[in-house]
Formats: sequence, C-alpha cells, structure tokens
Amino acid sequence: MAVRKLVPNVHSVGAIDWGRKIFDELIPLPDGTSYNAYIVKGSEKTALIDTVDPEKEMELLVNLHELGIEKIDYIITNHAEQDHSGAIPLILEHFPEAVVVTNQKCKSFEIDHLYIHDSNFKVIHDGDTLSLGDKTLKFIMTPWVHWPETMVTYLEEDNILFSCDFFGSHFASSKLFAEESPKVVEGAKRYYAEIMMPFRSIIRKNIEKLSDLKIKMIAPSHGPIWKSPSTIINAYKEWISEEVKNEVVIPYVSMHESTLIMVEYLVNELMKKSINVKPFNLPETDTGELAMSLVDAATVIVASPTVLAGAHPAAVYATFLMNALRPKTKFVGIIGSYGWGGKMVDQLSGLLGNLKVEIIDPVLVKGRPNEDDFDALDKLVEKIVENHKDLN
Ligand code: FEO
Repeated sequence: MAVRKLVPNVHSVGAIDWGRKIFDELIPLPDGTSYNAYIVKGSEKTALIDTVDPEKEMELLVNLHELGIEKIDYIITNHAEQDHSGAIPLILEHFPEAVVVTNQKCKSFEIDHLYIHDSNFKVIHDGDTLSLGDKTLKFIMTPWVHWPETMVTYLEEDNILFSCDFFGSHFASSKLFAEESPKVVEGAKRYYAEIMMPFRSIIRKNIEKLSDLKIKMIAPSHGPIWKSPSTIINAYKEWISEEVKNEVVIPYVSMHESTLIMVEYLVNELMKKSINVKPFNLPETDTGELAMSLVDAATVIVASPTVLAGAHPAAVYATFLMNALRPKTKFVGIIGSYGWGGKMVDQLSGLLGNLKVEIIDPVLVKGRPNEDDFDALDKLVEKIVENHKDLN
C-alpha cells in the first residue's frame, strides 16, 4: 500500500490485504480488509500508531522507508491482537530505540503473545498524554472493543481519533476515505456483527466517553478513514441500541424438502403480513451475511430436519454462533421435521443460554407437512405478527 497523507505530518503506512478471504477463520471477507498503521511526526518526536498483521510486515517497513522515517521514538499499541501488534518485534529490530507505549493490560498481553521484553514498554493510563513536540497524543481506555485491553489514541491538535478495531471495517480500497465508497458501512457492519456485537452495552459507554472529544476524523486500523465521523458513530448507535426491526431471520437447512416446504410457507405468509424476511440456506450461507442480519432482527426462526436423532449440525452451528454473538433479538422459534423422533428442539434451545429471548412454541412435523402442520405455521405467523405489532 502506498503511503498516504491524512493531514500534514500524519500518514497512513499500513497494508491493504486485497486477497484475504476469511477473518478469524470464521467470517468471509468479500471485500478484503486492511491493517492500518499511522505515523505521526511531531516537531521533536515521531510515533507509529499500531502496526500490521505479520503477513504484511514487510509492507510496513517499505512504507516507513518510503516516508523517510529514520527514527521512531514511540510505538503506540492500542490493542494486542496480532493483526495490529504482530509486527512490533520487527519494528523493534529496525528501530531499537523505539519505546512501546500502551496500558498495563495490553503490555502484559504483548509480553505473552509476542515475547516483547518488559524493558521495551512505557505504561500509560486513561487520560494520559504524550508530547511529540507540536503534537500531543491522548490515550483513552475503551475496554472490550473487543478485548479487555483495547484503547484509542486521540491526536489533539488535528482532532484525529485512532480507534484501532473500534469503528473499523473489512474493506480493502484504494480510496483513503470511507465516504468515497458507500459500501464501507456494510463492511463496518460485517465487522461489528462478528466481533463487537456481544459487547453492545460497554460500547455504548465507550461512545459516551468519547462524546466530549472534538473529532474531525476517525482513523481505524481496518478499512478506510471516516472523514465524517458521524456516519460511523451514528451507525454504531443504531446497531447497539435496543431497538429491533420488523424482521425475521430464518437460518435453515433441509434434507428431503419437508423443512424447506415449511420455510417457504413461513416466508410467504410473513411477507403477506408486511414483515421483512431473510431466509439463509445454511450449507450455502456466508456467515458474515447471517451475522449482519442478526444485528437488527426482532425474531429468528431456526429451521432444521432431524438427523442422527437430533438437529442438523448446520443448524447447531448457526444456533451456537447466534448465542456467541448475543444479538438483541427478542424472539426465537424452532421449526423442522423428523422421521420417527429426536431431540432437536431440546438441543437447539439448550444452546441459547446467553440470549435474553422469548422462545416461541416450536412447530415440528412428522414427514412432510400436512394441513394441521400448516395451521400450526399459521399460528406461528400470528404469534410473530403479535410480537412485532409495535415495530416499524
Ligand atoms: Fe483487528 Fe482485534 O484485531
């Protein structure tokens, strides 16, 4: 990635990962991602803010060389996860005078994960500042976005917030600013859904904590920079709110069509009631799309056949994932089919312990659905309509 200027003496020096197809071996990346790092040159000192994934560390070195950086005084590390901290050891090899600046918890993680020596660190605390001469960095603890040690760095003179994962997006782009690519918000939602959603309530507190800052630019460590910070802050406020949408997500899997017939019937009947429906055929589903759909939906109906005397493993996976992501979903239902018996409902509902949801009465069908079964699905639709009656 080329070196790019945000404002005078502040440059982006990280790497774009155009070809990365999956993150955390979990969420597909249709638009790639980036690992952003930034150089802030003050009149007396130079700071590198975050680094890059070790796979791209040579790009970081090349960019520092291209920018003519001969001395780094401080490496500010906002987050210990390796896609941002993993190149610190290499940077220390090339710039041995650099001091690694972070909070105590992050320091301890980086000693464990990266074997960085204790003597390399300077520990800072919430609200501390660090002078680079004519530029000042302020450190603000924003825990659990999405690890316990996460913090952000604010450049006071230029009003730039270096937010690391917070407000980031999985989006590789040659454009420096998010506003030049409308799809970036979707990349940010994909990122939020995968790793931030379980921490909604603490994110609310962190956004509140940042509200006193005058922010002209948010420079995250994934995806383009937000030149109009309100775009991403308002999107986050919507995602973390307790408001749900008049939407039903249906993750389903079907082996011999019985469950599929039920799902198609349910989709059609819900649409007739003006309820937005998003069915996902699990064996073909992009997990990121499913996670994004969970950000807003009021109701999730998991649909599964019975196989090996229980729920289909694809339905188990989707239910387990939903429980881990802790969406603000209010209602969960289970529908499906069986040949002779099984414990599908007990298995799936037993996986939902993290969620504060009302479990709707299940609809189970022996063999292919008959008239009574469609009546039961009609009752399920009535129940969903009743649950959603106050939603837009
Ligand atoms: Fe982008 Fe939590 O690392």
